[in-house]
Amino acid sequence: MDREMAQYNDGLIGQHESIRTLRSLIERVAKSPVRTVLIYGETGTGKGLVARMLHRGSSRAKREFAEINCAAIPAGLMESELFGHEKGAFTGAIERKIGLIEAADGGSVFLDEIREMELTLQAKLLTLLDTHQFRRVGGVRATTVDVRYIAATNKVLLSEVNAGHFREDLYYRLQVVALNIAPLRDRGDDVLILARHFIDKFNRQYDRRISGLSDEVAQIFLQYPWPGNVRELENLLERIFILEDDDVVLPTHLPDRILRTVRAGGPSSSTGGHAYSAALPPEGGFHDATAAFQRELIVRALKDAENNLQKAATALKISRHALRHQMLKLGILDA
Ligand SMILES: Nc1ncnc2c1ncn2[C@@H]1O[C@H](COP(=O)(O)OP(=O)(O)OP(=O)(O)O)[C@@H](O)[C@H]1O
Ligand SMILES: [Mg+2]
Repeated sequence: MDREMAQYNDGLIGQHESIRTLRSLIERVAKSPVRTVLIYGETGTGKGLVARMLHRGSSRAKREFAEINCAAIPAGLMESELFGHEKGAFTGAIERKIGLIEAADGGSVFLDEIREMELTLQAKLLTLLDTHQFRRVGGVRATTVDVRYIAATNKVLLSEVNAGHFREDLYYRLQVVALNIAPLRDRGDDVLILARHFIDKFNRQYDRRISGLSDEVAQIFLQYPWPGNVRELENLLERIFILEDDDVVLPTHLPDRILRTVRAGGPSSSTGGHAYSAALPPEGGFHDATAAFQRELIVRALKDAENNLQKAATALKISRHALRHQMLKLGILDA
């Protein structure tokens, strides 16, 4: 089974209300005769996955799912990619070419990063959405197709309309059935469910037995704002599978970027805490909180120093004696 199929079979993982709602919407929309769907979500939230689910869940599933990234194709080639061209339509058009839309007749076309489509092509797309007809480049006859158009964007299209980058009429046309994918940081515990899912997947793929996240990592994951969303989480875990030998995911496996953001109280940090608020008692006052913070700092330094007291003290920039004293005070060492 190829990677794409495997991803589809797993579906949209998560239990957060927004994801449950999205799953049932996808199912409804997939089965409906709706021809145009817009998917909105930040980078890495699962727009590609949702587009595939819309296709596979529809009566079009056995036909083509054609995908085009409007940001990746040079503007000059885009029209012929989408609509095809007639022989001799332009220099180099030595043969007639069937475009993506014609090839996907009966199926779905996924127009990724629709905001990047040129304004003139946006106008042609709008005509296609309204009439189900288009002309190949250099062609005179209109061709009629039966296609579902699934567009995706990570830009707030209305602002793009106001900035003159996106046609208003096309915006309203696409907006009729719009699916919104929440950013990962707004999905509560789903980050842990997804981490579990990816750990299981990579255990199989890399023949490993990583049991899961350490409690500290779980807390960090809950606080980190995940600007790259699910893709960032997936890539991060895969990197750990490749680079680390431990059988549990530890804070030391995480890149500084994540630790720093969380320590600084990343934007989504609900507790407004630092990296070590994992150790905070829920209603802890100043003393409990700072003690937890100190304990965490010391435990981490000890771990990094492989329990060598002198090394840990040096890393913490305190004397060995002061470290011992703190450890006794914090109950890390028994007197
Ligand atoms: N809820 C989810 N459950 C399981 N896997 C998910 C989920 N959301 C995303 N993924 C996986 O995360 C990765 C990123 O998702 P996808 O490529 O669909 O995001 P995207 O929104 O299209 O990103 P971009 O804006 O960068 O194109 C994929 O491997 C996808 O299968
Ligand atoms: Mg994508």
